[in-house]
Amino acid sequence: MEIKIVSGAPLEKKTPCLVLGVFEGKLKTPLLRDIDRQLGGVLSRASQDKEFSGKHREKMLLYPATALAAERILLIGLGKEKSAGAERLRQSLGTATGFLQERGVSNLAVDLGSLAVRNLSMEALVQHVVEAVLLAGYRFLRYRTETADELPTTMKKLVLLVEKKNQIKEAGQGALIARGICRGVYLARDLVNEPGNAKSPEFLAGQARAIADETGMKCTILEKPELEKEQMGALLGVAQGSVREPRLIVLEYQGDRNNSQPIALVGKGVVFDAGGISLKPAEKMDEMKMDMAGGAAVLGTLLAASLLNLPINLVGIIPAVENMPSGSAIRPGDILTSKAGKTIEILNTDAEGRLILADALTYAQRFDPRVVIDLATLTGACIIALGHHASAVLGNHEGLVRQLIKAGEQTGERLWQLPLWDDYAGQLKSEVADIKNVGGRPAGTITAAAFLQKFAGDFTWAHLDIAGTAWEDKGRPYNPKGATGIGVRLLLQYLR
Ligand code: BES
Ligand code: MN
Ligand code: ZN
Repeated sequence: MEIKIVSGAPLEKKTPCLVLGVFEGKLKTPLLRDIDRQLGGVLSRASQDKEFSGKHREKMLLYPATALAAERILLIGLGKEKSAGAERLRQSLGTATGFLQERGVSNLAVDLGSLAVRNLSMEALVQHVVEAVLLAGYRFLRYRTETADELPTTMKKLVLLVEKKNQIKEAGQGALIARGICRGVYLARDLVNEPGNAKSPEFLAGQARAIADETGMKCTILEKPELEKEQMGALLGVAQGSVREPRLIVLEYQGDRNNSQPIALVGKGVVFDAGGISLKPAEKMDEMKMDMAGGAAVLGTLLAASLLNLPINLVGIIPAVENMPSGSAIRPGDILTSKAGKTIEILNTDAEGRLILADALTYAQRFDPRVVIDLATLTGACIIALGHHASAVLGNHEGLVRQLIKAGEQTGERLWQLPLWDDYAGQLKSEVADIKNVGGRPAGTITAAAFLQKFAGDFTWAHLDIAGTAWEDKGRPYNPKGATGIGVRLLLQYLR
């Protein structure tokens, strides 16, 4: 998508569609009065008839014919001015983008003056607007072979209108930041939407390598013989049921020359989770191609961090495997020896995420990280607890958890903390091994985190369970159906 920033009077700009934000009940701004006058009082009538009052995400499309320079004007409701903020703004602009795309409009001009929210700089305003338009405009069309005019429309051009010339530079800065962030989200969404047949651990490793080549990051890929040498028995155990061999993907971004301790991001990379011998039911099993969304978020975050030149050091670690039932798969009752030396009794082969993450967390130790954050589509129980409106956060350091929750509020990728009291670890006691891989039905998200905690050692550590938020069934204002790319904007906000 092309982005242009121009100054001048919005009503004089030739555009297929001029988008104007309207706060609830605020239809008498100079600009709206002007439009009302030139269009013979349509706005006054619409507000009298209660057809449009500026409620959040309400829309009204006008065709000014020859009266104005724009072919269309889309009024988009911003809701009450008092409660305006970044998330409201993104949702309004995302709604406008989706609405126009459905009507085949691929080129829009947004009047930033009509969106000005108190305490929001021009840079931040533009960042939110561009993020919303880019994210709402995303479509996964790689496998659609129809001709261009049969395919859904996607935004080609976004013009941002500022009042004065001297605002263009700051607005450009915001657009640049949004572009970098959205590259990361697009990458994560693309990888998650990619079907299982195309998406082997080797494929993911290739994607990581390509990102490293583009950005100059260091990329290390451990293949099966090296994983054996590293004694990653838990990861290898999960992988042994699939004909596709596992990989451990390691990306290092050095944005701080002072060799400061890195932040380690660990992402679950199960390219398809059939459940193994503890096979999942057929219904919705197709969605389990998304079980590498944590890994995708880590790749997207590292890509964006390096595009934005963040002055920090990062390590991304992605254990990539496929969890399949087969004659070579692990069985319930098997005992695996993890890299940390702890033995694990496997009671359910479908609790595989925690096994591969255990070895990845142990591997992270060699980087001496100051913080470790893992992301995983780890438990169905998380969907029962929080539905699709928040990810769960658990950890061993309140300060870190607080910071992540704050970043989630700012980005609209909300987190809700669950407790991680020692009591829960009791559910993981095994008779025959050091620990078992499931803790029974109660508090499934917490016992999964309690399992990970045993491998997080002395790290300052937090775990995000994104099982309910990585995949969108219905579509939201700026999250179309399918992969959401959850975690990328959240982590970048935390890191920035
Ligand atoms: N990948 C699943 C969790 C999941 C379920 C993610 C639904 C997204 C949507 C995970 O590997 C899993 O199967 N977890 C089991 C754990 C259980 C066996 C203790 C679960 O939640 O049922
Ligand atoms: Mn599973
Ligand atoms: Zn899984």
